[in-house]
Amino acid sequence: MTTLTFIGNGNMAKALIQGLKDSYKIEVIGRNKKTLEALKEQIPTISTKILTKNENIEGKNIILCVKPNSIDDLSQNLTGIADELYSVLAGTTIETLKDKIPAKLYIRTMPNLAAQYLKSMTTITGDIELKAKALDIFNNIGSTLWVNSQKELDIATCVAGSGPAYLALIAESLSDGAVQAGLKRTDANILVSGLFDGFAKLLNSTHPATIKDNTMSPGGTTAAGYAAMEQSGVRNGMIKAVQNAYEKACQLGK
Ligand SMILES: NC(=O)c1ccc[n+]([C@@H]2O[C@H](COP(=O)([O-])OP(=O)(O)OC[C@H]3O[C@@H](n4cnc5c(N)ncnc54)[C@H](OP(=O)(O)O)[C@@H]3O)[C@@H](O)[C@H]2O)c1
Repeated sequence: MTTLTFIGNGNMAKALIQGLKDSYKIEVIGRNKKTLEALKEQIPTISTKILTKNENIEGKNIILCVKPNSIDDLSQNLTGIADELYSVLAGTTIETLKDKIPAKLYIRTMPNLAAQYLKSMTTITGDIELKAKALDIFNNIGSTLWVNSQKELDIATCVAGSGPAYLALIAESLSDGAVQAGLKRTDANILVSGLFDGFAKLLNSTHPATIKDNTMSPGGTTAAGYAAMEQSGVRNGMIKAVQNAYEKACQLGK
């Protein structure tokens, strides 16, 4: 069984470990004894280790799960050259990773919040030699898409990484509309949650335009609601959201 060494044991690391624990040997290096012990209690098959001042990563397959602003501090504690480095750090380029953490091969990924339910949409790029291995690893926490450049990964980040926030706005406003029309808030939230669940399945097999056409009858209620959305600029707002987020990602990457 291949060993994967996690550095960092926060939310994203925990989600990944849940998905990977049956297929890989997992070692977790962290700096907080209490949270490491709690993780070991929850998943006894993993091994845990407190980060030392001279942590040797020689020959390891590292999954880097710290916050982007921790990389400078962390790099001062690491020695040796890792075999493989898989990073989940938002906005941290492969060039920065190469500068901070020596490894033979590098992968950059962008999972999303749904990783905690093993339903992440994860975009991946990096050294082509690791493509198959990276897809294997991240398929354990949901779906994956390999792209051939960091530019594409940054664009994907603005759709699938930021996407839960955009869809949350749609979900919340649908619920607000229902309450305004007179439905109880708890019932409105149940409806919207069920709507998104079923919609995800529809979208897997049907083009969005077809879903829209199939829902709308001439002069009907959906047509009236849909026209209000177009008049209010919802489509343009979504396109702009992705554009603005991408511009921001480009600024942060510099
Ligand atoms: N959460 C998401 O939805 C999401 C989505 C996409 C990408 N990501 C990326 O995933 C990464 C981790 O995010 P997260 O949500 O898991 O954050 P988190 O819950 O705050 O976990 C960060 C982990 O890094 C450790 N750490 C911080 N500084 C360190 C240092 N100098 N040396 C060693 N360990 C250090 C923390 O240890 P302590 O517990 O001691 O602080 C903690 O275990 C981020 O880079 C983020 O961009 C997250």
